[in-house]
Amino acid sequence: MKILTIESTCDETAAAVITDEFEVLSSVVASQEQLHQKFNGVVPEIAARAHVERILPVINETLERASISLTDLDAVAVANEPGLAGSLLVGVVAAKALCLAHDIPLVAVNHLQAHIFACRLAAEKNVFPCVGLIVSGGHSNLYKCNTALDFTPLGGTIDDAAGEAFDKVATMLGLPYPGGPSISKAALEGDNKAYSFPRPFLRDKESLDFSFSGLKTAVRYEIAGQGQVDFSALEIPEQKIADVAASFQAAVVDCLAGKAMLALERSGMDTLCVGGGVAANHVLRDRLQAECEQAGVTLHIAPFKLCTDNAVMGAIAIERLQAGLIEDLSLDISPGLMRIGKS
Ligand code: KG4
Ligand code: ZN
Repeated sequence: MKILTIESTCDETAAAVITDEFEVLSSVVASQEQLHQKFNGVVPEIAARAHVERILPVINETLERASISLTDLDAVAVANEPGLAGSLLVGVVAAKALCLAHDIPLVAVNHLQAHIFACRLAAEKNVFPCVGLIVSGGHSNLYKCNTALDFTPLGGTIDDAAGEAFDKVATMLGLPYPGGPSISKAALEGDNKAYSFPRPFLRDKESLDFSFSGLKTAVRYEIAGQGQVDFSALEIPEQKIADVAASFQAAVVDCLAGKAMLALERSGMDTLCVGGGVAANHVLRDRLQAECEQAGVTLHIAPFKLCTDNAVMGAIAIERLQAGLIEDLSLDISPGLMRIGKS
């Protein structure tokens, strides 16, 4: 069986062809990074228009690389939640059109569950039940993942997502978008103890929530003081950029690792799966590795190429197909954030 998976939740237009044995026959990701760079963040309307232009070429290239044609497909899967409304629509409409034209099943994919499923793919074995930590540009959530398709929310950010904080702090420091990789790179030359930035909720053992907005403001005050400021006109010494980047990154990693370990402790689970763009961060990966080793927890972190958005992780659709979860052409988008639970 061959399934085409489509991903267009945010600013990557992606497709993949995957077999029911989870063999990846092809995968294409068209990034929009350059389109959004000058705005230091994703502009929803630009993202939606770019998806419209790219979706068919991306699907065609994916099929070509897999050396198959549309008639060889047994199903089409598409991420329909959560994400940017205009972006989600493009993928969903394309998937519906293909299913209608070729009379094949349509499968819905939850993008957050898919980020965790990247760990299942890399492990090449079952990783459930586990605690799932999803850290991306739009989400910083902890879940009790009973199965690939049954997630219970444990906690999440009350304001900015971790990746969003990386992106905003990078802008303040004059570093290019996306901020995660730029901050990591700058931090290599910095002292992570140079500034003691806040770690919201970290000491609160009752809470599994995150908050990165105050941390972002603390960085702002450190580099620009209070009041209005044009960050692009600031001249920050290179060493200060590196020190702020390293200290900020350390604060984010402390919060993410601290709450992930607390979630494991509180849920009594012994496996942690981590996915999403921020999971590509080396300091976070090393820290989780060390903490999990010490706590006797099995850790699965998505491999680098499956951390940021891609369609390979849409292989979770195989699980849905096997569970008989097929959609009709009334399938809608669900842009909302925490609407995740038993499927
Ligand atoms: O999962 P993703 O591709 O898209 C969403 O679903 O949001 O995540 C993108 C986010 C961006 O905010 C980016 O700055 C962040 O992931 N990111 C990183 C790193 N690489 C990407 N954050 C920290 N360290 C990295 N190495
Ligand atoms: Zn994502």
